[in-house]
Amino acid sequence: MNRGQIAELEKHVLIPTYDRMPILAVRGEGCYIYDEAGKKYLDFLGGLAVNSLGYNHPEIMAALRDGSESLLHVSNLLYHPYQAPLAEKLTRLSGMDRAFFANSGTEAVEGAIKLVRAWSRKQAGPGRFEILAMENSFHGRTFGALSATWPKKYREPFEPLPPGVRFVRPNDPAHLRENFTPDVAAVLVEVIQGEGGVNELDRNFLKIAAELCHTHGALLICDEIQCGLGRTGRFFAFTKFGLQPDIVVVAKPLAAGLPLAAILAREEVAQAFSPGMHGTTFGGGPLQCRLALKVLEILGRPGFLEHVSDVGGYFRKELEKLRADLPVIQQVRGDGLMVAAELSVPGKTVVRQALEAGLLLNCTQEKVLRFLPPLTIEKQHVEEAIGMLRPALASLEPAAALKGANA
Ligand SMILES: Cc1ncc(COP(=O)(O)O)c(C=O)c1O
Repeated sequence: MNRGQIAELEKHVLIPTYDRMPILAVRGEGCYIYDEAGKKYLDFLGGLAVNSLGYNHPEIMAALRDGSESLLHVSNLLYHPYQAPLAEKLTRLSGMDRAFFANSGTEAVEGAIKLVRAWSRKQAGPGRFEILAMENSFHGRTFGALSATWPKKYREPFEPLPPGVRFVRPNDPAHLRENFTPDVAAVLVEVIQGEGGVNELDRNFLKIAAELCHTHGALLICDEIQCGLGRTGRFFAFTKFGLQPDIVVVAKPLAAGLPLAAILAREEVAQAFSPGMHGTTFGGGPLQCRLALKVLEILGRPGFLEHVSDVGGYFRKELEKLRADLPVIQQVRGDGLMVAAELSVPGKTVVRQALEAGLLLNCTQEKVLRFLPPLTIEKQHVEEAIGMLRPALASLEPAAALKGANA
């Protein structure tokens, strides 16, 4: 079936939750995706931060082949050889003590919320369970995670949601202090908000949040599902701010495209769960864990994370040059290869035109072009992307386009 036929069939048989781009993806190689006609797209969307090693990475494929031939799945009632080594590696890298494996980001957040409740109930009884989340946050779509997700459009249709989450204005210490009542058991942050528009929280605000948690015996949770695991040129984005969270959640790129997520927690917090209190059928399966071990090995190789910082810095610089020519770009921001260009107008047409030219990207918050390319891109890919972005952006402001072309 071709794309038109698939799209037509989907219209009738899928519950209509996605607004798809007009691409039938059939193959990927490195930083490129190919459609059924063989057209090639430079992928600066990166599976929304999942494909951090690109497509068809030879070492990942070898681990996948090997793993699939030995043990595809085994229940969590048995041991297998890969979960504990992965837990050991993730906890060492994050400064946490213990791990629980789940299947998706939202599930990890959900589990983290349960962990906060169990821990807080043990410490202070059942009355103290509130979580302060940030305005503009995104933490997932199951009921608990959704209750901590800011945009009304995601929450409202499903209300009532579980109680216990209040929102605080990010980077507003006074608002945080005002809301930090004795019922607060945890503060939940993305140190760089992803869906919210690639907004980095400021150092002082995070420091105050950590101090308040520490002083009042509440937990600091870092959601590193989008910004973690190498995306910013660090294993964990929170390390830039000198934070010592109590719980960290990771997912997206962890198993190179297979579903795997983890809740990482400090010893004392982790002990709030005992056997039977939480669990999952698929989470932490042997194949996923094996791939995740390979992903972490690759990220940890000398020069890998430095490359992310270098090429990310180069990308932002090239976007700044575009901004100088095209004032429709209001601001360029981000860290490593989590990058955004905020426009003064909606970005939908830019995404469409870039796509026609062969560049895959995404627009969040209506006006924020968001780039989450594979961490393996090189400067030449940045140049290729800029070459496709310039005309798409220039078409938004013809006068500025001329200036760019003459520059
Ligand atoms: C910061 C953050 N947390 C949680 C989630 C939810 O993850 P998933 O889509 O794997 O459930 C996302 C997904 O975009 C995310 O960006």
